[in-house]
Amino acid sequence: MAETKQRRALITGISGQDGYYLTRFLQERNYEVHGIVSCRAPGIGEAGERLYYADLADGSNLSQILDKSQPDEVYNLAAQSHVRLSFDLPQYTADVTGVGVLRMLDAIREFQQRAGKQVRFYQASSSEMFGKVVETPQSESTPFYPRSPYACAKVYAYWQTINYRESYDMFAVNGILFNHESPRRGEAFVTRKISKAVARIKLGLQEKLSLGNINAQRDWGFAGDFVEAMWLMLQQDVPEDYVVATGQVHSVRDFLDATFGHVGLDWTDLVETDQNLFRPAEVDLLCGDASKAREKLNWQPKVSFKELAEMMVDHDLKLARKEMG
Ligand code: NAP
Ligand code: GDD
Repeated sequence: MAETKQRRALITGISGQDGYYLTRFLQERNYEVHGIVSCRAPGIGEAGERLYYADLADGSNLSQILDKSQPDEVYNLAAQSHVRLSFDLPQYTADVTGVGVLRMLDAIREFQQRAGKQVRFYQASSSEMFGKVVETPQSESTPFYPRSPYACAKVYAYWQTINYRESYDMFAVNGILFNHESPRRGEAFVTRKISKAVARIKLGLQEKLSLGNINAQRDWGFAGDFVEAMWLMLQQDVPEDYVVATGQVHSVRDFLDATFGHVGLDWTDLVETDQNLFRPAEVDLLCGDASKAREKLNWQPKVSFKELAEMMVDHDLKLARKEMG
């Protein structure tokens, strides 16, 4: 019997939330996983044989990394991904989250010619592109109305991905992912900020939690479910863009109810409002229509909103207990 060749994947942003889940998902499918880490990664200069230092703001070694890793699939997850921060760092965000994708696409185009092989490219596009939504729910055909420097950068990257697909016949796709969370979520995002505070308040390590707009509504899913959709998009015969979402909408208030409720606390006296945490322009409501992903990719989310909230609090309770010594 002929042996199947082990496939290789290169993941940018491998140290982030999605990088964590995607690496494990691909390794379970026998991929050889290579990753790009930024200069902020710990142990600088000590990268392992399959980890490479690069910055999407500096394209100089992307070609070399492609030559070394010889990927069949590239997942571009790297980004300055914090929406509030993008108002303070608009040029940096445009460079990394927007033009950085162009640098990677162009490096892949040249690599394909050099290596004589096709690479499949996944771009981490975002529901933030829908911003001030023009219809609900949002699908692949909903027009964009970006409301932050981050969202504008993602719209640029989205169109460059399509442009390279159409101009150079590349297998390049956009996954338009709605918010997805996990115990690996960065602590500056609202769900993790809340789950961490719930655990620390419950154990007496913290008194209050400061938040911005708690009326914002999002379509929150579990990151472990969403990385499967990324992979499925690259296994199709035809490169196409897909919305990935649960279709369920909850407010930040609902997340407070689910998390504080899980440990038997009422949040109303424990949460205070900080005007500094509001954004210059807010995205009030996001709700995805993932019918296309359901039908063509046979993908659907498995973890519910309540399970997600409880999973995050349980994880943060363990960390808080460690903190207590
Ligand atoms: P994340 O946890 O913030 O991870 C982002 C990754 O990008 C980190 O590994 C970070 O490394 C790396 N990075 C940042 N700046 C970089 C640069 N200049 N050069 C190279 N690497 C850089 O984000 P995530 O939640 O996993 O999301 C993954 C991707 O999906 C992002 O592109 C995000 O915008 C997009 N997305 C996320 C969601 C969501 O709800 N999570 C939804 C839609 C789209 P360092 O920490 O070392 O800087
Ligand atoms: N971060 C944060 N911190 N958000 C807060 C806070 C707070 O203290 N208080 C209220 N919020 C509100 C925000 O104003 C926003 O409306 C909502 O909570 C969610 O904020 P984030 O968790 O920061 O996520 P996001 O929706 O802005 O962006 C995330 O999802 C996008 C997909 O829609 C990020 O992961 C983006 O990278 C991603 O593209």
